[in-house]
Amino acid sequence: MSQLKSYPPSDEFVAAANIKSRQEYDTLYTQAQEDAAAFWGSLAEKQLSWFKPFTQTLDWQAPFAKWFVGGKINVSYNCLDRHLETDRKDKPALIFEGEPGDERIITYAELHRLVCRLATVLKNLGYQAGDRAVIYMPMIPELAISLLACARLGITHSVVFGGFSAEALKARTLDLDAQLVITADGGWRRGKEVRLKDAVDESLHDCPNVRHVLTYKRTNSAIAMKDGRDVWWHEQDASLDATRESTQAAETCPAVELDSEHPLFVLYTSGTTGKPKGILHTTAGYLLGAQMTMKWVFDLQEKDIYWCTADIGWVTGHSYVVYGPLAAGATSVIYEGAPDFPAFDRLWDIVERRKVSVFYTSPTAIRALIRQGNHWPEAHNLSSLRLLGSVGEPINPAAWEWYHSVIGGNRCPIVDTWWQTETGSIMISPLPGVVTLKPGSATLPLPGVVVDIVDAHGRPAGNNREGFLIIKQPWPSMIRNIWGDPERFKEQYWSRVPGAYFTGDAARRDDEGFYWVLGRVDDVMNVSGHRLSTMEVESALVHHKAVAEAAVVGKPHEITGQAVCAFVTLKKGDWDKASLEKELRQWIAHEIGPFARPDEIRFTEALPKTRSGKIMRRLLREIVTNNAVAGDVTTLEDLSVLSHLAALHDED
Ligand code: PRX
Repeated sequence: MSQLKSYPPSDEFVAAANIKSRQEYDTLYTQAQEDAAAFWGSLAEKQLSWFKPFTQTLDWQAPFAKWFVGGKINVSYNCLDRHLETDRKDKPALIFEGEPGDERIITYAELHRLVCRLATVLKNLGYQAGDRAVIYMPMIPELAISLLACARLGITHSVVFGGFSAEALKARTLDLDAQLVITADGGWRRGKEVRLKDAVDESLHDCPNVRHVLTYKRTNSAIAMKDGRDVWWHEQDASLDATRESTQAAETCPAVELDSEHPLFVLYTSGTTGKPKGILHTTAGYLLGAQMTMKWVFDLQEKDIYWCTADIGWVTGHSYVVYGPLAAGATSVIYEGAPDFPAFDRLWDIVERRKVSVFYTSPTAIRALIRQGNHWPEAHNLSSLRLLGSVGEPINPAAWEWYHSVIGGNRCPIVDTWWQTETGSIMISPLPGVVTLKPGSATLPLPGVVVDIVDAHGRPAGNNREGFLIIKQPWPSMIRNIWGDPERFKEQYWSRVPGAYFTGDAARRDDEGFYWVLGRVDDVMNVSGHRLSTMEVESALVHHKAVAEAAVVGKPHEITGQAVCAFVTLKKGDWDKASLEKELRQWIAHEIGPFARPDEIRFTEALPKTRSGKIMRRLLREIVTNNAVAGDVTTLEDLSVLSHLAALHDED
């Protein structure tokens, strides 16, 4: 690693930073390690607003945690109401840009009003704490408003990314057993309408427990409204204004006093089976993690204009577009559309016009924009930026260097943040005023985060050895359960290394204690920073009438990190392979969503299997990565399959 350059923060950055020295970090880290309960308990007391104080910081019945036991709190109150008593009342909470160019600036006072009105609508429709809502919306303020209105009442929400298909939406709605769906007619993406309500209608054929579909009018296109089930957001909203008193009551809808462990949201993510897992996050601990990392990692200052480009449909959008920034009183930018629409400088144009100071995006977005040339960012004044962030996958040093020089003007530290849907908030990341950065390393664990690298037997691997990344102590924003499946929760995360949380990532620690996260060790691909299980794509493929068997692996991709590569054997029949390939790609878009479409489909006579019949994905991975196979193949049932698969590639 010694040949890599390293980047200390500038004196100017350090002078203004929330945490300014390694000593300060070490003190926090040691305090947290020595007495985690005292550390987190004191932060929760001071940083969050409680209706009723908690009596116990942590009740740890491994692997089930209860944080801040006995406390009563509300996330929506912490994101909104408490700021209204301060100068933040008239500060922009959200700066919104629609893809077509429409814009809205919503202050904390206005956001509070809008959230209260929606919460009243939901109450009027009969929803209350303990109910469940699926939210399927474009990236518009009403998406954030929906999350906050649900949180205000204690309705557990599950946001489904707008790029998921009707089938995927249905699976999630059923698993959550949701009674309510909040959606929009559509949203804008690359100048075209994404017709969300149509997908909701299709998804609800077999979801008898959904009572209402609350629909926001965004694109104004014709959609079907089912009598007795579908209601327009704007009509419900208008009905609140029957009298001056009713308006006032709607706009001051009180936040419900909820238990610290009340389920805030369930977010589905890919696991190693075909069925996505519903990751459960609860109230107080999640909020504390999201809020503290805004201060520590993003070094949030009162005047920052903060922009995380993630979609709220992913965990990054939950924690770093909505809950974290608003709990911390930040101004958070929301952009509806694609980064390359109408041109490749859309992001830089927004940074310049909005004077964004903290910018957080993914390596995939960075790599895609590098390819378009430096003239796009160079045409903009990006001098408002002071801090950059990266998330979702390892960032390669070349992309890091470009981000640092071309976007950051060699002035802005880059926080490479490692975390997961399950961790709720950032776990390993530089503190930007403290750490001398090394491109490609997420550097050090945050205070209160105790990680290690272990070998296949769960023994500490030591420095400079690749191994499995584990987390050894509970933390407040940790996953509480897999919705409806505690056995899977125990088995997936807590059975590999006794007493520790198994991340599913490989990593290495260098002599300075810096962590280098290398990627997944399970059958989960990372495509454009989105997790996708090989099994999920396989089970969708074998549902197609032509497919006998399928094996899916991730192959390295210059822009998206990994791309989906499917090996498919066909049922007997006279198939036109060229048109079948197209059809299968379309099929995956229909079954899962367009982002899961295979980059490559290889038709083959057979798949390599062990004697016990397990597909040897490792071999397939090697074929797509190197077009060669190394390592142990003694368990292969039929070695000839292997040479045939490699030959297939040569024919391409
Ligand atoms: O493999 C790691 C990778 O993304 C996985 C988590 O994916 P998801 O739950 O969808 O959350 C993505 C956003 C937090 C991890 O197991 N990953 C995430 N951030 C990094 C990363 N890999 C390397 N470096 C990162 N900074």
